[in-house]
Amino acid sequence: MHDITVALGERSYKIHIGENLAGTLLALADGFVAENRPVAVITCPTLPQLHPSLFSELKKRSRLLIETSVDGEGAKSTRELADIWEKLAEARIDRAGVIFAVGGGVVGDLSGFCAATFLRGISFVQVPTTLLSMVDSSVGGKTGINLPSGKNLVGAFHQPAAVVADMALLSTLPPREFAAGMAEVIKYGMLADASFFEKLEAAGTLTWNSPELPAVVRRCCEIKAKIVAADERETAKENGRALLNLGHTFGHAIEKVAGYGEYLHGEAVAVGCVAAAMLSENLGFAPAGTLAGRAIALFEKNNLPVKLRTPLSLDALVAAGGNDKKVVAGKLRFVLMKKIGEAFTTSAVPASAVRDVWLSLGAK
Ligand code: GLY
Repeated sequence: MHDITVALGERSYKIHIGENLAGTLLALADGFVAENRPVAVITCPTLPQLHPSLFSELKKRSRLLIETSVDGEGAKSTRELADIWEKLAEARIDRAGVIFAVGGGVVGDLSGFCAATFLRGISFVQVPTTLLSMVDSSVGGKTGINLPSGKNLVGAFHQPAAVVADMALLSTLPPREFAAGMAEVIKYGMLADASFFEKLEAAGTLTWNSPELPAVVRRCCEIKAKIVAADERETAKENGRALLNLGHTFGHAIEKVAGYGEYLHGEAVAVGCVAAAMLSENLGFAPAGTLAGRAIALFEKNNLPVKLRTPLSLDALVAAGGNDKKVVAGKLRFVLMKKIGEAFTTSAVPASAVRDVWLSLGAK
């Protein structure tokens, strides 16, 4: 058992990380039931069949179990949110209510936003079932839904009461989704911890049952917990929580221009991290040959793309980058690196350098 605390004063919470945590999860639910706090479980349509005994135990402890109407990003919609609010109201979930979000980033973001807004805010527990949500989206309290005009444009900071990351739930995760999670894992090494990056280089290709995985998830959560505790709402003028967006400005542009769903988020982040590494070297922030080559080798070892799979329009990619949510007061902030393990934020990036990187990655 490996627990980590996200230190946020009275909103502090534990991340439980381990290999068979059904007991921990059910004990948490039992605790709420014993206090007469109604539990609602929100999940996606596929998971209850994949983990029948866990869901049957959760059902015994909950007033209702809500499955989103669709799997995937489409569930992060205003319509889905309104349906869930209505179901919670019909089930008379009150202010003491607790939502258990059992799923990947989509379920976590949607349920978290639902918890942030229903009755002006109720508690929720994150039970991530993908590697990506274990190491990133379930921790730190970012919640939200998409609008037709863009992803995550509506949301709230709402910290969970606890996170339970059980490696056993990864046994049914498709290999491509696991690899996408590895992109965020590698990102942590690049931005904050060179020796963690070296361990990943030495580990080879990780899978859901690699003995190293709980320690790997733990290190990612430790890095994220520290960054979130210092800059919860991403308001630091420099560095801070924005560092977690390494590779994301490029990655979001790829997702948008290729068409959502074409690249998994983690796949686009892998290409985005390569872009950030190239840009850092090209602008002289890091010595040539110290970043991009190592990043490419590690992403490839973990079955991730390191350039555009098919050419995308250069102008469309540049325009999509400029519309990123990370634009503050009209300025796009990039996350770049001085070396592996040391990232920083900067706006001092000439447009021509960004275009050169897109061209090296296969833009036309
Ligand atoms: N995924 C970036 C963050 O939580 O800030």
